[in-house]
Amino acid sequence: MLGPQKKRNFVGASIAKPLINLMQQKVIILDFGSQTTQLIARRLRELDTFCEILPYNKFPKDDPSVIGVILAGSPLSVYDKDAFRVDLNQFRGRMPVLGICYGAQFISHELGGNVEPAPSREYGRANLESVDTGNPLFQGFTKGSQVWMSHGDTITALPQGFHAIAGTDHVKYAAFAADNEPIWGVQFHPEVFHSVQGTLLLKNFVVDICGGRQDWSAANYIETTISELRAQIGSDRVILGLSGGVDSSVAAVLLHKAIGNQLTCIFVDHGMLRKNEFTDVMHDYECLGLNVIGVDASEKFLGDLEGITDPEQKRKIIGRDFVEVFNAEARKITDAKWLAQGTIYPDRIESLNITGKVIKSHHNVGGLPEEMHLSLCEPLQWLFKDEVRRVGRELGMPEHLITRHPFPGPGLAVRILGAITREKVRVLQEADDIYIRALRNYKVELSGEEARRVLAAGVPAHLENGKVEVSLYDQVWQAGTILLSEVRSVGVMGDERTYDNPVALRAVTSTDAMTADWAHLPYDFLAKVSNDIINKVKGVNRVCYDISSKPPATIEWE
Ligand code: XMP
Repeated sequence: MLGPQKKRNFVGASIAKPLINLMQQKVIILDFGSQTTQLIARRLRELDTFCEILPYNKFPKDDPSVIGVILAGSPLSVYDKDAFRVDLNQFRGRMPVLGICYGAQFISHELGGNVEPAPSREYGRANLESVDTGNPLFQGFTKGSQVWMSHGDTITALPQGFHAIAGTDHVKYAAFAADNEPIWGVQFHPEVFHSVQGTLLLKNFVVDICGGRQDWSAANYIETTISELRAQIGSDRVILGLSGGVDSSVAAVLLHKAIGNQLTCIFVDHGMLRKNEFTDVMHDYECLGLNVIGVDASEKFLGDLEGITDPEQKRKIIGRDFVEVFNAEARKITDAKWLAQGTIYPDRIESLNITGKVIKSHHNVGGLPEEMHLSLCEPLQWLFKDEVRRVGRELGMPEHLITRHPFPGPGLAVRILGAITREKVRVLQEADDIYIRALRNYKVELSGEEARRVLAAGVPAHLENGKVEVSLYDQVWQAGTILLSEVRSVGVMGDERTYDNPVALRAVTSTDAMTADWAHLPYDFLAKVSNDIINKVKGVNRVCYDISSKPPATIEWE
């Protein structure tokens, strides 16, 4: 229901104290605009250590809980006139510093080294042909370790008092260290999956060099958060909007565990959910013991959307209607003091807007009535998606709720191109249901890098003889069907000519939805799904598979 960022837009809610003991020791990751900055944080969390991402110019100078700093990557060059700069003296000499890619080049450039455009862009897999395993950063590394490079510039001379600690065939200063102070830099990306010992490097830095404790776990998080929620909320009443998605569901269960029936959840059916989703999800919520009010508002939404074809207008109408319906229900709970939301950490990271452009407005909730005077409660605000899933599992929630794919707030409205009607929603629900069921039923066996990747992403599978078996559904980040309702093409069914709509199938792999690749689904799978849809769904006579990545495309079509 509630997309990223818009969750911050509630005008009627004030933000409560953060639900975490901020004295928890942490590493600060300074963001210079790279797509992989969040991945660094996720890797550190996987090591059960706590970290925070902050814009490059917002280092918290006087926070005694900071034990180290990582300068992350950037799409800019250190010698660009608009390059993001940071004053290293804020932390230099006070805590260990690690620069990654741009971060390493920035340190080198600032301290008197030399950075130049590389003769050719250094991109892709490389091997550390020389590596100083005596240096604490490379403890446990093997010679030849595979790393991932992605930079257009390269360090051609180190500052005085610095020395190389790793190199590849093409990159002399793949990593460096200062002789007499705790500063390191790596020009490769330890956070990406293809850097095989990347997590070991990050562990060496955070745990051994910075002295970080590995005490950040789902169980600890639940325990601390529950006692903080109880202290914060007391005997007040809380309202929470449920969407059927992982975040709001886990937030609800966590709150329910803390305050029981003081929590009332509201789940709005706008009429454009997946087939049977409203009843199935309501049933799940009831089994979890949640106090949920289900509101069927499909007539209102579909009525207001009649004849609307512009994607942005559709989103705005849905956003407006959602606020109206939600508020009408919320107002009935007259003694509510809190509005709880499933906001997660990536929604809150103040991301640097390098281009300043908005691609799509995702954010469909405008605000709660001022007179309700609600305070905002966000029990998942420090968690990444995979951590939310871990917390959900620890809370005993059913696996199908936890591994559910992300689904856009406006639902099938952004997957029906053109005007929306009940009949189009029905056709799309049928086709989509066939596709999603087939993804769940088709099992694949993975080994090597692929197996490691799905396990690292938290997919519930067991490694046996170096292999894991997972469903295609669990292997992809997100899948869905799009009805191209403004396109018609000729077909033949039996002896009859048809003139019907095509559907497009979409499946992507991703770690955060910021970038995505189209999933390479097996041909036999696609063939069967196509056949089933065309045979079973009246109104569809052609199936296409979307092979666009993001960027330049987006995951949703509208
Ligand atoms: P795009 O299409 O921008 O989508 O590549 C990125 C991710 O966001 C989801 N999405 C939305 N989620 N409200 C939401 O809650 C929205 O309006 C919305 N639009 C897109 C999309 O499904 C994908 O996971």
